[in-house]
Amino acid sequence: MDDRKPLPPTPVLETARLILRPLAETDIPTIQRIFPQWELVKHLGPQIPWPYPGDGAATNMAMCLDQRAKGEKFFWAITLKGDDTLRGRIDLWPFDGQRRDMRGFWLDPELWGQGLMMEAAEAVTAYAFEVLEWPFLYLSNSAKNVGSHRVKEKQGAVEIAREPFAYVSGPADKVTWILRREAWLARPAT
Ligand SMILES: CC(C)(COP(=O)(O)OP(=O)(O)OC[C@H]1O[C@@H](n2cnc3c(N)ncnc32)[C@H](O)[C@@H]1OP(=O)(O)O)[C@@H](O)C(=O)NCCC(=O)NCCS
Repeated sequence: MDDRKPLPPTPVLETARLILRPLAETDIPTIQRIFPQWELVKHLGPQIPWPYPGDGAATNMAMCLDQRAKGEKFFWAITLKGDDTLRGRIDLWPFDGQRRDMRGFWLDPELWGQGLMMEAAEAVTAYAFEVLEWPFLYLSNSAKNVGSHRVKEKQGAVEIAREPFAYVSGPADKVTWILRREAWLARPAT
């Protein structure tokens, strides 16, 4: 994994029900409308300002577009097929040699519990392992975040650490995982 090479442009990825397309500046009002919900942010890290400011989505978008322009990270808008409106986000970035976390995601609560994030996570993981040929993904979540935890388990990730961390909702254990390419490729068909 060459961490210094700029990443290629974010590709459009398609799943059975979703189109993952590059995040765009025009998504700002939608994000500002959906994102600031306690149930959505409570298990996220302390970099999320809370209460969420009125320019939170715009400030974050500027940072994302800058990181993407530098080839540091991928940012996808999660959309339902047939409707280009952003309904969630999934991000992916290479291992920097230190921070054991390489993916982030959130979904509009109206769409939870339908297997959609699993679908998005599988598409992004396929891109990381099959196209970029990364050997592993480090992943993490709050131990209290049952849905996010379950996505990692279902993908075949292995827990490697648990340590106290400060989330938006307060202290909780951070679970760190490694998902190896071989394990993911050998996962049972669903
Ligand atoms: C975590 C999140 C992305 C899950 O999205 P989702 O589309 O509802 O997840 P899926 O439907 O693909 O579910 C995947 C698995 O997790 C389980 N799951 C999802 N949410 C769950 C919950 N709240 N409680 C228990 N299990 C849950 C599902 O049942 C499924 O497992 P199964 O197939 O064995 O039944 C969504 O809840 C979310 O956006 N949360 C807020 C943001 C966040 O926490 N992001 C992750 C930070 S690490």
